[in-house]
Amino acid sequence: MAITRSTITMTPSGLFLLFLFATTASPAPIALPLSTSSRWVVDGEGRRVKLACVNWAAHLEPAVAEGLSKQPLDAISKSVAAMGFNCVRLTWPLYLLTDSSFGSVTVRQSLERLGLAESAAGVRVNNPGLLDLTLVQAFQAVVSNLASNSLMVILDNQISKPGWCCSKYDDNGFFGDKYFDPDEWLRGLEMMATMFNSSTSVVGMSLRNELRGPKQNISLWYRYMQRGAEIVHSANPDILVILSGLDYDKDLSFLSEKQVNLSFTKKLVFEYHWYGFSDGGDWGSQNPNEVCAMVIGNITRKGGFLLEQGWPLFLSEFGIDQRGVNEADNHFLSCFLSFAAEKDIDWALWALQGSYYIREGQLGLDETYGALSWDWCKARNSSFIQRLSAIQSPFQGPGLSKSSPYNMIFHPSTGLCIVTNSQLKQLQLGQCAESTAWRYTRQKKLMLKGTKYCLQPEGVSKPAKLGFGCKVSSAKWHLISSSKMHISSNLTNNGNNVCLDIDDNGTIMTNQCKCLSLDGTCNPGSQWFKIIRSSREVNDQIFKRCRSQFAQVEQLYPDDWRKHRNSLA
Ligand SMILES: *[C@@H]1O[C@H](CO)[C@@H](O)[C@H](O)[C@H]1NC(C)=O
Ligand SMILES: *[C@@H]1O[C@H](CO)[C@@H](O)[C@H](O)[C@H]1NC(C)=O
Ligand SMILES: *[C@@H]1O[C@H](CO)[C@@H](O)[C@H](O)[C@H]1NC(C)=O
Ligand SMILES: *[C@@H]1O[C@H](CO)[C@@H](O)[C@H](O)[C@H]1NC(C)=O
Ligand SMILES: *[C@@H]1O[C@H](CO)[C@@H](O)[C@H](O)[C@H]1NC(C)=O
Ligand SMILES: *[C@@H]1O[C@H](CO)[C@@H](O)[C@H](O)[C@H]1NC(C)=O
Ligand SMILES: *[C@@H]1O[C@H](CO)[C@@H](O)[C@H](O)[C@H]1NC(C)=O
Repeated sequence: MAITRSTITMTPSGLFLLFLFATTASPAPIALPLSTSSRWVVDGEGRRVKLACVNWAAHLEPAVAEGLSKQPLDAISKSVAAMGFNCVRLTWPLYLLTDSSFGSVTVRQSLERLGLAESAAGVRVNNPGLLDLTLVQAFQAVVSNLASNSLMVILDNQISKPGWCCSKYDDNGFFGDKYFDPDEWLRGLEMMATMFNSSTSVVGMSLRNELRGPKQNISLWYRYMQRGAEIVHSANPDILVILSGLDYDKDLSFLSEKQVNLSFTKKLVFEYHWYGFSDGGDWGSQNPNEVCAMVIGNITRKGGFLLEQGWPLFLSEFGIDQRGVNEADNHFLSCFLSFAAEKDIDWALWALQGSYYIREGQLGLDETYGALSWDWCKARNSSFIQRLSAIQSPFQGPGLSKSSPYNMIFHPSTGLCIVTNSQLKQLQLGQCAESTAWRYTRQKKLMLKGTKYCLQPEGVSKPAKLGFGCKVSSAKWHLISSSKMHISSNLTNNGNNVCLDIDDNGTIMTNQCKCLSLDGTCNPGSQWFKIIRSSREVNDQIFKRCRSQFAQVEQLYPDDWRKHRNSLA
């Protein structure tokens, strides 16, 4: 199956002729089914596949995928693909399958009995073919339409009893709760896995979302998660089995001592959830450098360690208020993006839906975390989607390219990377898909890979430059502040330090370092950079196109250019 990725192009604010140029190789078709290889998800040919998903809710009271009253199904699938996602984590309530009298009502009946006549009318207009399907058939139709748009699907059992999820006392939280009978759950998983046993686009199942509540118990977690995994695997051996942790999927720490014991290999993935509001309100009140460092430390202890142990960790829910009005969320997102880019993790945004038929009793509730607008017509915030596109394609992993690894300098608050023009005179932010290839050396120099050019400060509030030879002491860059996201140079020996920064036009500058600690009201965003590892293809085609620009470099620096060119050969 070919998965094509549409790129969202940006209007460049300056000269975008690039020197060492990295691009995403044209997407090779994904050979399904997927499996795992150490911490990576790979396709049938062993090539890394990065899950860049969006959650689409179908688990609320109507048990119908949201939005079908607003837009035709195919238009929704196409907008998922157009926003650059390659997969959907589609949620479902257990009773959809285990309560046959529930699953066999029609979409129309389900909406009407909840008093949602207006939604039923909307489905009649936008998706007339779905209106009189049963809930189960409508669910299958959604999966099948996503598949026909080359989108992979992960089925997530969000809850048992249809409704908004998740609260500690909703009786859906843990094995043995009123609405969470383990045997019924196992039966439902088996039915779901069987239902899609011939659908290659269903690539995984999240067995149960956000275990929680007073009944949580580690030994029962192992007992039932292992049983669930075995049952799903025998019903459908092709798919990835995805296990959620305790405490709203924020705790997998128990796995550091004891692994799950399964009869099969290469199909097991763990999932983890990370929201700004789960960090105890810290993002709104404390210094963002300190909060980012602390929270990443916690996440590493509670789940991130699994990557080091050789398991894929799927960040299957994260999100923000996309109106940009919540400062805490804004700080959180920059920290999240730096982590997601550095670890090159698989992820799923919460959420696709711009609005709900009904949520927590409110008709037509607007989802401010939704990637789509309330009417499902367009992206709620295209600059958010642009930022997210930085982490949509893989930076690393098996079979990605033959390029040796290099560094990108990522700027999380814009989702862009440092690029340089072919005259080597201008450093600015550009799309990460066109990032310059850097090398952060042991001597703490930031060199253009394969050359002797390196990043140098020129002074406070001046553009940073590329110097040749890297002999000056100010060409050493230290990663400072708790977050280690300030890239700082000792401009002089008397302690006058500067930090990399950007101006309004995205030109790379050096300024006084700001917001290093304490102050909780200060926003360090413009000075946050993350040096990340990449082995994306360095694109020769673009080299060829730029040859005339290189000729000018040759005139400026004939000797070095010759050496450089030889090193490329
Ligand atoms: C898929 O499940 C159906 C039952 O729904 C079964 O008849 C069929 O043999 C299964 N196919 C495979 C390939 O396992
Ligand atoms: C967890 O469940 C097991 C098996 O039912 C039980 O023996 C154990 O006491 C429980 N542990 C806690 C802390 O509730
Ligand atoms: C793993 O499960 C198998 C089969 O149930 C069992 O025989 C084996 O003892 C288990 N291993 C561990 C370490 O628990
Ligand atoms: C993170 O860990 C620190 C200890 O290092 C602890 O004080 C803090 O409460 C934890 N925060 C969260 C949100 O878990
Ligand atoms: C999009 O988000 C940015 C900040 O993240 C905000 O400044 C902007 O107003 C938002 N745009 C819309 C249309 O909500
Ligand atoms: C340069 O700056 C770093 C980070 O602030 C500091 O640790 C180091 O001591 C400074 N070196 C000199 C020579 O000032
Ligand atoms: C940004 O670019 C505009 C147009 O080229 C220019 O007028 C302005 O001075 C620039 N701003 C900065 C901070 O360099």
